[in-house]
Amino acid sequence: MTLDKLLQAQGFGTRKASQRMIIDGRVSVSGVVVTDYQHHFEPELLSISVDGQPWVCRQQIYLVLNKPTNFECSRKPSHHPGVLTLLPPLFLARNTQPVGRLDHDTTGMLLLSDDGGFIHRHSSPKHHVTKTYEATTQDAVTPELIAKLLAGVQLRDEPAPLTALSCRQLGSHRIEIVLDQGKYHQVKRMLAAEGHHCVALARTAIGNLRLEDLDLPIGEWCFLSEAQLGLLKKTGAASTSN
Ligand code: URA
Repeated sequence: MTLDKLLQAQGFGTRKASQRMIIDGRVSVSGVVVTDYQHHFEPELLSISVDGQPWVCRQQIYLVLNKPTNFECSRKPSHHPGVLTLLPPLFLARNTQPVGRLDHDTTGMLLLSDDGGFIHRHSSPKHHVTKTYEATTQDAVTPELIAKLLAGVQLRDEPAPLTALSCRQLGSHRIEIVLDQGKYHQVKRMLAAEGHHCVALARTAIGNLRLEDLDLPIGEWCFLSEAQLGLLKKTGAASTSN
């Protein structure tokens, strides 16, 4: 791959903009400034710096964002800013997209990637990766509510009752719900069907990857390591049931 193509693939801008950066002497390869943008390199052998800062070349990017409220996951947000505005422009140039969606008022763990296969696998209902949510309810949580969520709740437009994989009370008005489906507004609709209004919702884990283990302040993002990506694949409930 030529150096200008590499920079473009990493999200530094158009081919022309990448060539300009190289000609201007802003890019070093293995500690040496390279101004020939047509020079061929093996990307995996490269240690490059841009403007004096080391740059790790990633073939694909896998991120977690701790989503704040009042951000939309849609590609064309209408009422609130999009979650992509919380990422560096470099990632947008690589067509990084959210993996599935959280409602604009839901907080917590949101995966983003520029790997189409990964996005598809993790947002497809066939891929039964567990999602753990913490919901705050307007009225007190009751043992009946927990029993119903575990036994199955019939929603309008659904052919069969939807069940929580596990469910436990966290406080007088707080409940943890683990799901392995990803239906539209599923947590809020399941609670509403049992007469409980959800006043706040946070996703706390996907598979066995827990947001609290990432130490990620709200509104911030981090890359996922190979080990963390492995935890996503595990489909066991991330928390103890009941
Ligand atoms: N369930 C909901 O109701 N909303 C979300 O954002 C995610 C799951």
